[in-house]
Amino acid sequence: MKHGLPTQYEENGRGIVFKDTALMKHLLKNGTRLTPEPAYPSFRVSYDTKKGKCLHWLSCFLITSKGKAVGFFGIDIPPGRELSPDEVHLLGSLGNYLGGAIENTQLMETIRLHRQELRKLTGKLFQTQEEERRRIARELHDEAGQALTAIQLGLDQMEEHVPAGNHRLEEEIREIRKMILQTSSEIRRLSYHLHPTLLVDLGLGPALNLYFKEIRKRSNMGIDFHMVGFDHRLDAETETILYRFSQEALTNTLKHAGANHFRLSIIKSYPKIIFLAEDDGDGFDGRFAGGDQQSLGLLGMRERANLLGGTFQLRSKQGEGTRIRIEIPLGEVPGDA
Ligand SMILES: Nc1ncnc2c1ncn2[C@@H]1O[C@H](COP(=O)(O)OP(=O)(O)OP(=O)(O)O)[C@@H](O)[C@H]1O
Ligand SMILES: [Mg+2]
Repeated sequence: MKHGLPTQYEENGRGIVFKDTALMKHLLKNGTRLTPEPAYPSFRVSYDTKKGKCLHWLSCFLITSKGKAVGFFGIDIPPGRELSPDEVHLLGSLGNYLGGAIENTQLMETIRLHRQELRKLTGKLFQTQEEERRRIARELHDEAGQALTAIQLGLDQMEEHVPAGNHRLEEEIREIRKMILQTSSEIRRLSYHLHPTLLVDLGLGPALNLYFKEIRKRSNMGIDFHMVGFDHRLDAETETILYRFSQEALTNTLKHAGANHFRLSIIKSYPKIIFLAEDDGDGFDGRFAGGDQQSLGLLGMRERANLLGGTFQLRSKQGEGTRIRIEIPLGEVPGDA
């Protein structure tokens, strides 16, 4: 990589000549170790400016990193100006710092690229997860649903052949019918939990209201839910993500908090959406949230928020409840009320 040379040298890089060819060979040999020095001496390098007719000289200094020469920089000294020994020393030692700085920059760049790849991968993972959930939900609904219907039809036929007065068998068939009904409603619940069809058909508000209604049936915890400022449907991805955030926040409260109350507000505050989930439960040391490798819920929320260019904040203290605030950019479907 070259910087600061006249354009023709930047482009083809030819014509740069070390005055001392032995030094040039030595330096260009890969992996030559240098004896550590606070500053390496300067050397001269030329390039021709007019097809061999005019040589231009530069005073150069090595750029070193980890005891190896990784490049050099040259200074165009005006005719009649000599570098003092102090200046030579200063520039020589600058080469040592430059090497470290360049290496750090390259490392930062590598980290940035890895982060970018990881982000892409995480985004893909979430997308695949949603598709997989949809597929399992459909199969559960269709396959298991059909199997149960077949069992029910079999029972109908059996019932026709029950000898009159065999109350015990009639009772057993009634019990099996009850079990089929329960299993069928459980399958519907599971399938809906995996992929809430109402979310697609009617949007986030109705889907969450139904979800909380289901939870209220099975838990004594108070649940408040408000959506403020929305007069349009959100885009499908944002709705799904907000639905998953709500599911995770409520599940955590039910699983870990021992709370009396859970409150969720989703507020449109142009140009962003504020998601606020609070409980009055036991709380925990929020500093370590997501540190446990088995726990993916909070980590997933944070990653999803970051992927959308948003922010994730968790505030929790033992005995003082838990509060999650997420802000994501507003994604609306225009004109879809
Ligand atoms: N609302 C809450 N109240 C109290 N503790 C909580 C709350 N939310 C999270 N925690 C604590 O933080 C930990 C991490 O939560 P996280 O959602 O990441 O994982 P998890 O719920 O344990 O597992 P999963 O991967 O199924 O979500 C939990 O194990 C729990 O100790
Ligand atoms: Mg969780």
